[in-house]
Amino acid sequence: MSPTDQLFTDGAAYERLMGRWSRRVGDVFIDWIEAPRDLRWLDIGCGTGVFTEQVIRGCSPAAVVGIDPSPEQLAFARGRGEWSKVEFIVGDAQDLPFADNSFDIAVMALVIHFVPDPAKSVAEMWRTLRPGGTAAAYVWDYKNAGSPTAPLAAAMRAMGLQSPAPLSPQVTSLQALEELWRAAGFEQTGTRAIDIAVEFADFEDFWQSMTMPVGPAGTAIAAMPPDGQAQLRSVLEQQVPLTADGRVTYRARASAVKGCKTA
Ligand SMILES: C[S@@+](CC[C@H](N)C(=O)[O-])C[C@H]1O[C@@H](n2cnc3c(N)ncnc32)[C@H](O)[C@@H]1O
Repeated sequence: MSPTDQLFTDGAAYERLMGRWSRRVGDVFIDWIEAPRDLRWLDIGCGTGVFTEQVIRGCSPAAVVGIDPSPEQLAFARGRGEWSKVEFIVGDAQDLPFADNSFDIAVMALVIHFVPDPAKSVAEMWRTLRPGGTAAAYVWDYKNAGSPTAPLAAAMRAMGLQSPAPLSPQVTSLQALEELWRAAGFEQTGTRAIDIAVEFADFEDFWQSMTMPVGPAGTAIAAMPPDGQAQLRSVLEQQVPLTADGRVTYRARASAVKGCKTA
């Protein structure tokens, strides 16, 4: 996978593949970070603004800057609502176009595993935060098959195919995230796992959602020949957990981290 495969370029498809699940994690994450009102927020890798919207609704920010390398995702974000306190900017987590000490809180919601150099992005959070500011992130726990797309990856592996892993899956455990935060200089660090239920009306709903043409998984499946896609579907039909009434349900797990720039 290359850095450009880590971009998400279709907002509506993203919503069906991921937005509905990431929102469930975001609610728990927002409670956990206990951010006071009236902060200046930086939402790194804001994409279609799913988490940005949760910040506006749940945290009463003074202002929010959302930054993402995908103009398509930002166009979708801009069109989805009233954003009087929000500015959306194209940019990269590893080279933030902001002065030192610009923000009170910087967050990465489901982003750091797509960044080629995660340590650089955490160093950029540190640089752009004011002393006393908070850096926090959550990410699917790929090391423990925590992503909603884990059944898809398992089926691809069973077929002898390379599974659609993000560029930096090594940073998705609680321990790895805390080490990254401490190495960047953050103190008073904390971590927690966030478990959510993932549910689909039936296998067809699951298949259509998983094969949305967006992100690493969608890119990998779109590149498969039709008979390969049919075989993948058949393997998944045998592997995914079905309830007696035909629904597909399983658990997903995110790892979350937070820390303070005390100096
Ligand atoms: C799974 S989406 C998460 C979007 C949003 N934060 C949310 O919670 O719905 C991952 C986002 O990371 C962005 N991304 C990928 N590489 C990035 C980088 N190097 N710097 C910043 N964002 C990046 C993608 O374009 C995409 O919008």
